[in-house]
Amino acid sequence: MSMKYHPLPRTTLEISEIAFGAWPIAGMTTPGIIDAESLAAIRACFEAGINHLDTAYMYGACGESEKLIAQALGNRRGEMVIATKGGLHWGPDQEMVYDARPQTLRRECEESLRRLQTDRVELYYLHAPDPNTPVAESAGEIKRLMDEGKTLSAGASNMTVAELEEFARECPLAAYQPPYNMLQRQIEADTLPWCRAQGVAVLVYWPFLKGLLAGKMRRDRTFENDSRRKYPQYQGEELEKNLALIENLRAIAAETGHSVAQLVLRWTLQQPGVTCTLCGARRPDQVRENAGGSGWELTAEQLARIEKLLAARGAPAVRSL
Ligand SMILES: NC(=O)c1ccc[n+]([C@@H]2O[C@H](COP(=O)([O-])OP(=O)(O)OC[C@H]3O[C@@H](n4cnc5c(N)ncnc54)[C@H](OP(=O)(O)O)[C@@H]3O)[C@@H](O)[C@H]2O)c1
Repeated sequence: MSMKYHPLPRTTLEISEIAFGAWPIAGMTTPGIIDAESLAAIRACFEAGINHLDTAYMYGACGESEKLIAQALGNRRGEMVIATKGGLHWGPDQEMVYDARPQTLRRECEESLRRLQTDRVELYYLHAPDPNTPVAESAGEIKRLMDEGKTLSAGASNMTVAELEEFARECPLAAYQPPYNMLQRQIEADTLPWCRAQGVAVLVYWPFLKGLLAGKMRRDRTFENDSRRKYPQYQGEELEKNLALIENLRAIAAETGHSVAQLVLRWTLQQPGVTCTLCGARRPDQVRENAGGSGWELTAEQLARIEKLLAARGAPAVRSL
């Protein structure tokens, strides 16, 4: 096992650079999630050297993701650095509701701790800014939760530099969580350099662009009942271009003796300022494969060839949450 670990700023903890993203096991993207497989996937992290789990209050209609984590870890909870998030929940029509008022964050944090069967998490994020609540007010409440010992450190997700600055004025900021992958690189222009300059860890989500870049998506895959069908990367000409890119990446991956998924994770982690990739998974074999994104390096020449492929692919169509 050759997993690399990096400090979680403002704590004495270290996190594995490949983390387990616990959205897929919430069962909201893909139907037919099997609890036994989800539990086995979380437990596979121990052997794979993954010590960081990323979940949220809104992962599941009733917090299924947090509950499965508690069940899977049992008395090994102390070996994991757990992050959860608050400030987003599901409305009556399954729409996302942005509510990060202080009292909501407190209630959601306390509910998350109950579901996770723990007294505190190691990292608590503001999931996204609430348009009706100043970021400073949400951050102030997270600072109070920290002072009370309900979280060891604080993070922010889905923010601009101005919002991160506002957050950091009220509460010490350990981590930022944006979307980032080969086809979504907007953060390179603003939040990524800001975090590097401020010593804030950057833990990126969607390293596989929701599965596409893991290299196993077949052209004829249909997304019946799968919420991924709404994303442009899975549609028409965009899908064709993305699958062609993956075939080109496959040749470089083969040269390194790794899979496409591992190459994609390695590339992501070699981008300056990226601390950790949050890899969504729902089966233990995926966890084991993803862990192999750590412990080796792409050469400068291979990185340059990948850049060329990405430039040739052209600007992709993507959408946010
Ligand atoms: N802060 C935020 O707002 C935010 C938003 C989104 C996500 N996140 C976090 O970031 C994590 C990552 O995002 P994500 O899970 O949506 O997307 P992702 O990591 O880009 O992709 C996850 C999907 O990739 C596929 N996959 C994973 N490993 C694979 C492997 N080795 N081989 C083949 N396929 C593989 C699985 O698809 P199949 O289901 O088809 O097997 C899995 O569902 C989440 O789990 C969550 O913790 C945070």
